Amino acid sequence: MNLIHLGEPEIGSFYDDEELEAIKNEFDIFSKGSTFKTKNEIKEKIKLFEDAFSSKFNVNYSVAVSSGASALDIILEYLSLNNNSEIIAPAIGFHGTYLSIIRSGAKLVLCDSDINLNVDTKSLEECISKNTLAVVITHMNGLPCDMDEINKVIDKKEREFGTSIKLIGDAARSCGSLYKGRNLSDYEWATYYSFQRKKQITTLGEGGMITTKDKFLYDFLISFRSFGLGKELGGNFKITPMQASVGIVQLKKLNQLNNSRRTIAKRRTEYFTKHLKDFLLPLDNEDYFNTFYLYSLLVPEHWTELMRNELILYMKKHYNIGCCIANDVVYKSNPYIARALRNKKFPKSEKIGSRTLSIILHPMLDINQEKFINQAFVESVRKIEKRRSE
Ligand SMILES: Cc1ncc(COP(=O)(O)O)c(C=O)c1O
Repeated sequence: MNLIHLGEPEIGSFYDDEELEAIKNEFDIFSKGSTFKTKNEIKEKIKLFEDAFSSKFNVNYSVAVSSGASALDIILEYLSLNNNSEIIAPAIGFHGTYLSIIRSGAKLVLCDSDINLNVDTKSLEECISKNTLAVVITHMNGLPCDMDEINKVIDKKEREFGTSIKLIGDAARSCGSLYKGRNLSDYEWATYYSFQRKKQITTLGEGGMITTKDKFLYDFLISFRSFGLGKELGGNFKITPMQASVGIVQLKKLNQLNNSRRTIAKRRTEYFTKHLKDFLLPLDNEDYFNTFYLYSLLVPEHWTELMRNELILYMKKHYNIGCCIANDVVYKSNPYIARALRNKKFPKSEKIGSRTLSIILHPMLDINQEKFINQAFVESVRKIEKRRSE
C-alpha cells in the first residue's frame, strides 16, 4: 500500500479476515432464508458493540450513533439550548463540531487554543460567563487536553456563578488516548468518538459512539436516536448492525493499532529531536498518552506561514510525501462559523494555526517508509531554511 503521499491517510485503520467474517455473518441476516429473524436478533450486534465499548473504556453507558457529528448533535439536543445559552469551544478545531453548536441554537463563543492545539485553559476561564451551559473541547489529533486544569476552571466558575456547566469531549481523533492513565470519559460529562474511515478505528466508513456516566442523558440518547421512541421529538441517528459487528472486531485491535502509531511517532520524535532546532514536537508522556491520529508539530516561531506552506509543497514535490494542516483557526475554513462569530478574530490562535503541520503517520507504515519520511522531512527543512537565508 502506497500511503506516504497522503497527508491524512484515507483509511486510518485496516481490515483483515476477522472483519470480513463479521460482515459475512451479518450479510446472512439479509439473505433470502433469514427474513424470519426478529428485531431483537438484528439489534443485538449494536448492544454488543456498546457493551464492548463500555467495558473497554470502563464507563457506565455507551450509545452507538451514525457519526461523530450526529453524536454532538444529539448531546446538544438534550440541553434544550436557546440563543441565551453560550457554548464555548477553542479556536482551532474541526469545523463540523462548530456547525453542530451553531445549529443547536446556542451562541458559539470561542476561546484560544494553546501550542499543543488543545484548549488554552487561561483563555477558557476568561470566556466562561453566567450564560455558559457547556464547554466542548477537542482532544486534537490524539493528544488529550489538560483535564485537571479544565475541570478546575469549570468548578471555579460554577461556584462563582452558581451555575452548572457540562463538559463535552470531542474524542473523534483520540480513541484510546489517556490522561494521567485514565480514559477521557472519566473526566467529562459526555465524550464522543468518530469511526469515520480516517479515524483510529472505523465501522465501514462512518459511525460514532457517545459515552457517559449520566443515566438521564443515556436514556435520552437511546430514545432520541430512534425517532424518540414516543418519548422525545427524536430522529434517526442509528448505526447499522453490520457496522457494529465490524466495530466489535476493530475495538479488539485498537490497542495494537495505537501502539503501532505510538512506536512510529516515538522514533520520529527521537530523530527530529536530534536533527531539528526550534520545532515544537508533539507531546507524549506519562500524563498525556497520545494516540497520534496525526503527527502534528509547530514549525519554529521565527518561520513565516509561507515557509511552512513551502515546506509542505517541497515534501510533496520532491519526495511525494503528504503533509496537512490540521487545523487552522476554524473561522477560516467555514463562512457560517465566521458569520456566527461576527468576524471576531483570535490572533494568538491564528499564529499557532500558521505554524502547524502534520506529517503522514499510519500504523501500516514500514520501517523503510518511516526512515524515508523522517530523513526527507529534515532535508526539506534544511532546503527551506537555506532558500530563505539566500
Ligand atoms: C475532531 C473531529 N470532531 C468531529 C468529527 C466528526 O466526526 P464524523 O465524521 O464521524 O461525523 C471529526 C471528523 O470527521 C473530527 O476530526
